[in-house]
Amino acid sequence: MKVLVVGGGGREHAIVRALRRSPSSPEVLCAPGNAGIAKDARLLDIAVEDIDGLAAVAEREAVGLVVVGPEAPLVAGLVDVLQARGIAAFGPSAAAARLEGSKAYAKEAMEQANVPTASWRAVSSLEQGLDAVRDLGGDSASVVVKADGLAAGKGVTVAEDAEQARAALEQIFTFGRFSAAGEASAVVEERLVGEELSLLALCDGERALAMAPARDFKRIFDDDEGPNTGGMGSYSPVADIGSEELTRIVETVHQPIVDLMLSRGTPFHGVLYAGLMLTAAGPKVLEFNVRFGDPETQAVLPRLQSDLLELLLAATRRGGLAQAQLSWSPQWAVTVVLASGGYPESSSSGQVIEGLQNLPAGIELTHAGTAGEDGRLVSAGGRVLNVTALGDDPDSARRLAYAGAEEISFEGMQIRSDIAAHAAGRAR
Ligand code: AMP
Ligand code: GLY
Repeated sequence: MKVLVVGGGGREHAIVRALRRSPSSPEVLCAPGNAGIAKDARLLDIAVEDIDGLAAVAEREAVGLVVVGPEAPLVAGLVDVLQARGIAAFGPSAAAARLEGSKAYAKEAMEQANVPTASWRAVSSLEQGLDAVRDLGGDSASVVVKADGLAAGKGVTVAEDAEQARAALEQIFTFGRFSAAGEASAVVEERLVGEELSLLALCDGERALAMAPARDFKRIFDDDEGPNTGGMGSYSPVADIGSEELTRIVETVHQPIVDLMLSRGTPFHGVLYAGLMLTAAGPKVLEFNVRFGDPETQAVLPRLQSDLLELLLAATRRGGLAQAQLSWSPQWAVTVVLASGGYPESSSSGQVIEGLQNLPAGIELTHAGTAGEDGRLVSAGGRVLNVTALGDDPDSARRLAYAGAEEISFEGMQIRSDIAAHAAGRAR
């Protein structure tokens, strides 16, 4: 069977690798891919936004399954278009992808399904936003401001005080940073405190099947300082949450949403990713994504022992996962992201990447923003490479990942030095 993976980041590289491990040995294609994915899949030069181009090539190549990596083509309806042409596609329809495409839609769904989440208010002007800050932020005015639409992880501001909250609202409503003219909207919500957890579930329209838990590191600098990014590292599993608690989260978060979407006539197929805060009052949802996490996937999929291809195919059929079970390696995985200078505000490209030939054994290197230029590998985006290592405990996985990352260099390279540091410390 031919499988087409849509996307060109570290997540898609990890998906391509996991699909290639399938016992049914699929031929893997990737659009548009990157310089590293080119070694593991046949690349097609089609952008993820080119819905018609992707559908046409999937038909021409007679692919048996399309796996959609990023959110934008899901929200734009790629899966609907593929299905209309009779092509199996892993991912939600545009209607179901609104769980990620609109923060307000997601919050309403959580409210209706009784899913624990932060108090919130949808706002559509600066004045409404400032009112919500006063009502939800208390004396410290500490709230979270979220632009309503897709913003590649950059539309969220965790405000420490009223001034920061106002500045974030002005970005949205006065400067229109995240929206087409005149259509700005946002969610203001109560700020939660605790450790974060990413719990992804495979969904077949009826059932949510939890994957291994992971933690990602969203801020650019050590100790969670600086602005949010797409993610600077990750690890899996997460020891500070037990299997009973994980089961409870799936029962109180993922499954009620899957049930709700089915009852609305927009069944949810694909990955339902809950970003959770483990608060003193129990786990609460920060956000839903409707796709694999990046960089969580780079740490989660190397631990998957089940056949990913079979699972993704099953999830495209209503109730197809009824008999499915997931099996995981007991090992730990740690992923360290190497990002380019200026990220996340900007990104530099064309910097020559060196040292890849020196990586220690056991490193799983996945490419994100890389390209080939004059026979050399160069950076081509914000997040450039992901270095993943497995180990029998968090500390050994972490040491190996950093030993790998230290071999690699390019001008302006940014890397956090504390990925999985607490997990390694706790386990010692
Ligand atoms: P989101 O895109 O909604 O997940 O937000 C990105 C990041 O912002 C999350 O991973 C958290 O680190 C932070 N965040 C979002 N919502 C909240 C909240 N209600 N309280 C505290 N931090 C939050
Ligand atoms: N790791 C965060 C995300 O994939 O959105």
